[in-house]
Amino acid sequence: MEGKYRAAIIGVGAAVSSGKKGGNHQIGYTHAVAYQGNPRVELESGADINENNLKAFQHKFSVEKGFADYQVMLKQTQPDLVSICTYVGQHHPMIVAAAQDGVKGILCEKPFVGSPAALKEVHRVVRETGVKIQVCHIRRYLPAFMRARDLYQSGAVGEPLMCIAGIAGWDLSEWGSHWLDMFRFFHNDQPVRWVFGQARVRGLHGYGHAMEEHAVAYIEFDGGGKGILDGGMAMNGPWTMTLVGTRGTIRIEREDTLEIDNAAGRKTEKFSSDYRQIWQHLVADLLDWIEGGPEPVTGFTSMAKSAELNLAAYISALRGDRVDLPLGDADQQINEWPVELLARRSTSGQ
Ligand SMILES: NC(=O)c1ccc[n+]([C@@H]2O[C@H](COP(=O)([O-])OP(=O)(O)OC[C@H]3O[C@@H](n4cnc5c(N)ncnc54)[C@H](O)[C@@H]3O)[C@@H](O)[C@H]2O)c1
Repeated sequence: MEGKYRAAIIGVGAAVSSGKKGGNHQIGYTHAVAYQGNPRVELESGADINENNLKAFQHKFSVEKGFADYQVMLKQTQPDLVSICTYVGQHHPMIVAAAQDGVKGILCEKPFVGSPAALKEVHRVVRETGVKIQVCHIRRYLPAFMRARDLYQSGAVGEPLMCIAGIAGWDLSEWGSHWLDMFRFFHNDQPVRWVFGQARVRGLHGYGHAMEEHAVAYIEFDGGGKGILDGGMAMNGPWTMTLVGTRGTIRIEREDTLEIDNAAGRKTEKFSSDYRQIWQHLVADLLDWIEGGPEPVTGFTSMAKSAELNLAAYISALRGDRVDLPLGDADQQINEWPVELLARRSTSGQ
């Protein structure tokens, strides 16, 4: 490839970060730093419907070209790389537009897509255009999680029994999608056989969509390993996650420390959690993939499965039944964020 890859960001992020659940985390700024940290990429343009956000972003990152309409940006600037940093309900039309306008690589934020029908449509556009999509389940690049997976899969604590995590005050998708993706990662991305989901949905709204107050997903992988994610309440103890095997446990503290208990005793291992570095890996892997290298760990093939699992947990709550994967034809027709359907059911009292 001659010259630099020209990158653009759609949904550049709030001018001021709130640090609270519901939005305004400025993830577009993280993408900008990642692009500007790669000597082979030039961050050239940004699009945002909010003029203040756009101006603040352009000023901070010295980005000359700003657009109110992302479609105009795609047509006029023809970027090679596009980051989609808007909320989940907006991702799919933006992916389709970018792919059809010849974009080579997309970094899309999580949760990935808002419905099974949207996911099906993204599958089609990937098939037809060959666009390379990475979803920012960035923790796949964190050394502590990689080491935990290797230990869990190599029998260090026996056969995998159960991954357990609870996220205080959060949910199954805006935060929980990361953990569902990690559960898949810890099982070497083996297929998920089924998921049971249940959710308490009232009037909560954030990230442009209905959110649950509390939800849970219980899943089984091929091979029999299971996972429980509590989206709302923490588990007892200081651990982010616990991986239980037939002969021991691996506990993850924060995102940088493992405590391994097995027949050999207790061992603690510490790792770096340098987020700036792992975002650099993400961008480098996208370029490599575009140039014929392997599909990265956060590539579309795997991430579509994480998105399907996430949606299926909500569909299970909707149906009051276990959902077997892959989703069947009827479920693939659902073209709305399933939590919206749960919210409507809750307010109609049905
Ligand atoms: N990967 C991660 O670790 C991580 C971390 C934080 C947030 N996120 C995810 O990133 C997504 C964005 O969240 P955030 O809080 O950073 O966002 P934000 O609220 O800071 O920014 C979203 C931006 O999108 C813009 N926007 C809305 N509609 C648009 C449109 N049609 N065209 C162009 N711009 C539009 C808004 O004006 C805003 O500037 C969420 O889905 C969130 O879950 C991921």
